[in-house]
Amino acid sequence: MTITLKSQADIDGMRLAGRLASEVLDLLAPHVQPGITTDALDRLAHDHIVQVQGAIPAPLNYCPPGYVPYPKSICTSVNHVVCHGIPNDKPLKKGDIVNIDITVIKDGWHGDTSRMFVVGDEASIQAKRLCRLTYEAMWHGILQVKPGARLGDIGSAIQVFAEAQGCSIVREFCGHGIGQVFHEEPQVLHYGKPGTGVTLQAGMTFTIEPMINAGRRDIKEAGDGWTIVTRDRSLSAQWEHTVLVTPTGYEVLTLSAGSPALPDFVTTTAC
Ligand code: MF3
Ligand code: CO
Ligand code: CO
Repeated sequence: MTITLKSQADIDGMRLAGRLASEVLDLLAPHVQPGITTDALDRLAHDHIVQVQGAIPAPLNYCPPGYVPYPKSICTSVNHVVCHGIPNDKPLKKGDIVNIDITVIKDGWHGDTSRMFVVGDEASIQAKRLCRLTYEAMWHGILQVKPGARLGDIGSAIQVFAEAQGCSIVREFCGHGIGQVFHEEPQVLHYGKPGTGVTLQAGMTFTIEPMINAGRRDIKEAGDGWTIVTRDRSLSAQWEHTVLVTPTGYEVLTLSAGSPALPDFVTTTAC
């Protein structure tokens, strides 16, 4: 088990990559409207990352062991799609909820972040509630981050909150260490027991990215080698930030001008 600790220079690289990833979401946000296809969002993101940011879209041709190469530059997961949805030519419609997940590589460093969008701002009460609860669940995890805390503290905080709201946590996918490698150690589970697991140290960087279902937690792969859906076709939501463990707490690295407001129980993005 080797978890890389980032130096001050490394952290500068991670801060830039993180901000750029978040800025791609800022760019896409006004385009997430009824009638646009996820292919069009992919094209907008790809061209901005490559031509404006001078960066690389990490998903394009990404091929972990056992997978086929990922064919697009972003992930777009609509309604009952849990994660890794592949952009396609189907238009979004009013009331859809969509996760857009962006990972960029800038100067060798990765920034990984995702947000939920409500298409046309008119989803059902339940869909909007799921998006909000999942955002809050991610932040309950982030608030646990400080040296000496354990990974199980993060997972437990997310699980206790989400399950108290009657939602379920997807177990098969987790957050991950990140740096010069897209997915590195440790695995950051979104469920667990306080006081268990790896002890956090200043200089660690990892993602927290809970996937939360309105129905049962069971999932299946849709058949294209990537897309994951809920087995019961219930709605699923996800939010993701890349975070740094600081000497006294956390710093969220994937922030930008368009980042959504913090939940009311959160007072700071860095401490
Ligand atoms: N961005 C995803 C994550 O949060 C990984 C996507 S892999 C891809 O870890 F190939 F599907 F893009
Ligand atoms: Co991630
Ligand atoms: Co991601």
